[in-house]
Amino acid sequence: MLRSARDPQTGRGMRSDELRDELINLFLAGHETTAQALAWTFYFLATHPDCAGRARAESVQNLSGAAGTAEQYGRLVYLRRAIDESLRLMPPIFMVSRTPVADEPLGGFVMPEGSLVVISPYVMHRHPMYWDAPDRFDPDRFAPERAMARPRYAYFPFGGGPRLCLGAHLALSEMVVVVARVLQKFHLALAPDGRVVPEAALILRPKHGIRVHVRRVQRP
Ligand code: HEM
Repeated sequence: MLRSARDPQTGRGMRSDELRDELINLFLAGHETTAQALAWTFYFLATHPDCAGRARAESVQNLSGAAGTAEQYGRLVYLRRAIDESLRLMPPIFMVSRTPVADEPLGGFVMPEGSLVVISPYVMHRHPMYWDAPDRFDPDRFAPERAMARPRYAYFPFGGGPRLCLGAHLALSEMVVVVARVLQKFHLALAPDGRVVPEAALILRPKHGIRVHVRRVQRP
C-alpha cells in the first residue's frame, strides 16, 4: 500500500529511503509500545486478582471460549477500563516534546521560540489535582460518568492534537483481544522472585520483565 501511495497534490510516490523510514517508524511506534503496555496490564491484573476476576468473567460470558468477533470484544467494557487504567499508571510513551514556532505565553511563563517543551503523560496521569489516590489501580475511574468529569488532557497516553497516535485504535483493539484470550485460559500471579522495576528507556518498560506464575483456569 505504501509503495503504491501517491501524493494527492504532486502525484509523486515515495523514494525507497522514504519508504524505509515510514516502515521503521511504524514498527518502532507500533510494536514496542503495545508490547510494553500489555506487559504492564498483565502486571496490574496479576497483582489485583479481584479486577482480573471481573475481567475474566466478562470475557468468558461474552466470548465463551471462541475466537470472538469485533462486536463481542466491544462488549468487554470492564476489561477495556483495566487497559485504560494500566495506560494511565504506566504510559509507554511517558513524555512527548514540542518546539514552539513563536514565543508562547503559558501560566505566567513564556515558552521561547525554538525551545524544547517536554510534556509528560506520566506526571499528568498521577496529578493529585485530577486523580484521587493517584497511585492506586482502579479501572472504574474510566466509567463514563467519572471519565467525563475530568479535563481532556488529564489523560493522554496516545498524545493529542494533530500528531495524535495513528495506531491508537489498532493498539487498543489488539490489547483487548490478547488480554481477553489470556484471561479466559489462565490465572496469573506475580512470581515471588520477580523484581518489577520501571525503567524510563525510550519506552517506559519493566526493566527485568514481568515474571508470573501461570495456572490454567479450570472449567466447571
Ligand atoms: C499502547 C500502544 C501505543 C501507545 C501508548 C502509543 C503512543 C503514542 C503517542 C503518545 C504518540 C504521540 C507522540 C507525540 O505527540 O510526539 C504516538 C504517535 C504515533 N503512533 Fe502510537 N502508540 C501506540 C501504538 C501505536 C501503534 C500500534 C501504531 C501503528 C501501527 C502507532 C503509530 C504511531 C505513529 C505513526 C505516530 C506518529 C503520528 C504523527 O506524528 O502524526 N502507535 N503514539
